Parts: sequence; C-alpha cells; structure tokens
Amino acid sequence: MAGKITFTMIKPSAFESGFTGKILAKIEDGGYRIIAMKKVRLSKELAGHFYEMHTGKPFFEDLTTFMSSGSIVAAILEKENAVEDFRQFIGATDPAKAEDNTIRKLYGKSLSENAIHGSDSDESAERESGFFFSFIERT
Ligand code: CMP
Repeated sequence: MAGKITFTMIKPSAFESGFTGKILAKIEDGGYRIIAMKKVRLSKELAGHFYEMHTGKPFFEDLTTFMSSGSIVAAILEKENAVEDFRQFIGATDPAKAEDNTIRKLYGKSLSENAIHGSDSDESAERESGFFFSFIERT
C-alpha cells in the first residue's frame, strides 16, 4: 500500500528568489498537510550524504555545490498516496518539460535549479524525512 508521507525541499534558488511562501501555499492548497518543517543550510558534505545515491554521476558535484549554496526549507508532507501524487504535482525534473501550473514549471529555472525536491519512493520518503527530522519532531 502506498504511504501517506513524502519529503520535500525548497531549493536554494527558489528560497533566494522569495518563492517559499507561494510554493508552501500551493502545496497546502493541493491538499498536503505540513507535518514538519525547517529552514536550514546544508554543508556540501551533508548535501552529498543526502544525495548519496547520485554519487559518481556527472551532475553530483554541481548538485551538492548548488544544494549547499544557500538556505533550503525541508518539510514532511502528509496525504494519501503522497509520494506519487507529489511527484505529479511538482512536475518533471527538468522545468522545461514540466506541465503547466506545476511548481517546477512556475518556479524552476533549469535541471539543477528546479525549485523543489520530492521523494521518489516510500523508502526514500522515510530515509529523507529521518535525515532532517527526529522521531520526536515528527510526532
Ligand atoms: P531532485 O529531485 O532533487 O533529485 C536529484 C537532482 O539532481 C534533481 O532533482 C536535479 O535537480 C539534479 N540534476 C541535475 N542534473 C540532472 C540530471 N542530468 N538528471 C537528473 N537530475 C539531475
């Protein structure tokens, strides 16, 4: 059965551009409940741990440099079928290919600076949520 939570991050470019409030409003209007949230800045090392499944890929260096370049907002979202629905909701990884009215289409600039992250599986949602939030903070 599909899980009820997903994990998201508003990426540094979107945060810096002042899109955080609009993106969070869109998420809530889309039926997602924010059950944990914080603004943080990742070190390059921590960004590397978060994206460890991409280690060795051509974009890994740029990805971790970018994700540690400024503040992000990390959050756990709750909804039925959260992972799959949220991936549809935010749009394709490349904003140029994202459908109209998706967050990446509206606020993304490029494949790297694509405004927002969404977990790709229930297992990732659990791992990524645990990376940023302790059990106590989630209750
Ligand atoms: P995200 O969903 O956060 O997961 C990994 C990120 O790597 C992805 O969004 C993109 O921002 C970034 N990225 C950069 N280049 C690529 C690429 N060629 N393929 C996939 N992801 C990429």
